[in-house]
Amino acid sequence: MTKLGIIGAMQVEVETLLGEMEGRTALEKAGSTFYEGNLAGLPVVVVQCGVGKVNAALCVQVLCDCFGVTHLVNTGIAGSLSAELDIGDLVVSRDVMYHDFDCVHFGYPYGRVPGMDVTAFPADEALLGYAFAAAEAVNPGHTKVGRIASGDQFVAEPGVKQKIIENTHGLCTEMEGAAIAQTACRNAVPFVILRAISDKADDSAEMDYPTFERIAAHRCAQVTRSLAKQLKAAEDA
Ligand code: ADE
Repeated sequence: MTKLGIIGAMQVEVETLLGEMEGRTALEKAGSTFYEGNLAGLPVVVVQCGVGKVNAALCVQVLCDCFGVTHLVNTGIAGSLSAELDIGDLVVSRDVMYHDFDCVHFGYPYGRVPGMDVTAFPADEALLGYAFAAAEAVNPGHTKVGRIASGDQFVAEPGVKQKIIENTHGLCTEMEGAAIAQTACRNAVPFVILRAISDKADDSAEMDYPTFERIAAHRCAQVTRSLAKQLKAAEDA
């Protein structure tokens, strides 16, 4: 039976979903609260993991070990790395990689974690399809599918942004996706990363971010709810 793990880093990224859950119970683990219940009729576990890669990875492991989730989605906001992505637009991960992982000295491609056989972790095709359909329904004509670049850094400087683009060819940047993807891969759990653009990851980011954080985060949560609905329909079919 499908059980969807839903991860957001910040309160603003999970609060609408928590408010919409039915039959909610809570369990504390490793400093985070895991909420189990139903969303749009689908069994889900929602957690606010906190910012950054370590917080994200450990919450995925708890979702796998203690809750037995069968699928994972990460909902949240991101800085745009593409001139074609405006604030409020949506990105669905085709794949996701680290922009701050460098073992090039030892002959690995930039971003590759030694021991992993890919540099960019591919999202699950079916989840990607559901997420894209859900995103298009919420904000028609404003969704792109592509690479997401993750690292432990809020990007707000044009030079840093440019380097990340060159190193990853990502559409947007955020701080958890690749860690969620890597942990999902190691547990053989299908995942997709879903992000709404809150800023342009340059010198306008400091101004844009506080203004658009909430709008973008809530838009992404709306898409996540619709994704849960589609997963439920697929299971019932
Ligand atoms: N999340 C939202 N905007 C971001 C940015 N500019 N850098 C990293 N993470 C983000």
